[in-house]
Amino acid sequence: MNKSSRLSHSFGFSEVEQREREEKIRAVFETVAPRYDRMNDMMSFGIHRLWKRTLVHFVNPQPGEQIVDLAGGTGDIAEKIAAKGCQVIVIDPSEAMMAEGVRRKLVGVEFRIGSGEAIPLPDQSVDRLTLSFGMRNMTDMGEALSEIYRVLKPGGTFYCLEFSKPAWWIKPFYDFHSFYIIPRLGAWVARAPVAYNYLVESIRRFPDQQEMKALVENAGFSNVEYRNLSFGIACIHMGEK
Ligand SMILES: C[S@@+](CC[C@H](N)C(=O)[O-])C[C@H]1O[C@@H](n2cnc3c(N)ncnc32)[C@H](O)[C@@H]1O
Repeated sequence: MNKSSRLSHSFGFSEVEQREREEKIRAVFETVAPRYDRMNDMMSFGIHRLWKRTLVHFVNPQPGEQIVDLAGGTGDIAEKIAAKGCQVIVIDPSEAMMAEGVRRKLVGVEFRIGSGEAIPLPDQSVDRLTLSFGMRNMTDMGEALSEIYRVLKPGGTFYCLEFSKPAWWIKPFYDFHSFYIIPRLGAWVARAPVAYNYLVESIRRFPDQQEMKALVENAGFSNVEYRNLSFGIACIHMGEK
């Protein structure tokens, strides 16, 4: 797919607003990096670990495969995949987030600065690409999806784990948790209230299960399907090049 035929999906922001948003996102992750993993455990009661384990189960990495974890942050997904005997490249624009992973000296994991909108890898060089809680940080999801499509080999697979739209009956509890608990935890534990207000806002703006499926299909992927996790609070979309 050439650049002009790419479908843009920039959350309805203008170009200037997009640039401001990009800077804000970068600042958020620089601030929260040292406390990011602890905050995830507290906010999700540890459930994010089960979601990530399910993601790795779907990926089913085989030794020798080239795997990329885009927006890989502190490297927790990469660590699980590398444990299966694969080489994993974590790509993320935040040095501070990746520094946490570098410090843990993960075997089989390489950390590279880069972004989803301009993945620093050649065409058709990757067997599988994972993106966990990173899609909603892209300034343009359409552009990121075409970059993901470009770097995957034919037959390569893409896995996206993200927050989604929960079932109606769980929504009141979920809303209470998002609007009252998460911002307070963000202020007390991560000492970054603005960052965690951003998190809640970005989850609200994110496409639901069907909209996300359509976006992945529009980027050219086939056999796109999704699995809800914890009644739709999170969701894994999968597609094949
Ligand atoms: C919520 S964290 C997710 C980290 C990890 N994948 C996980 O599941 O815990 C989002 C990550 O996206 C990265 N990020 C922000 N903007 C990005 C972009 N345009 N392209 C790729 N990664 C981006 C951030 O630096 C951060 O590490």
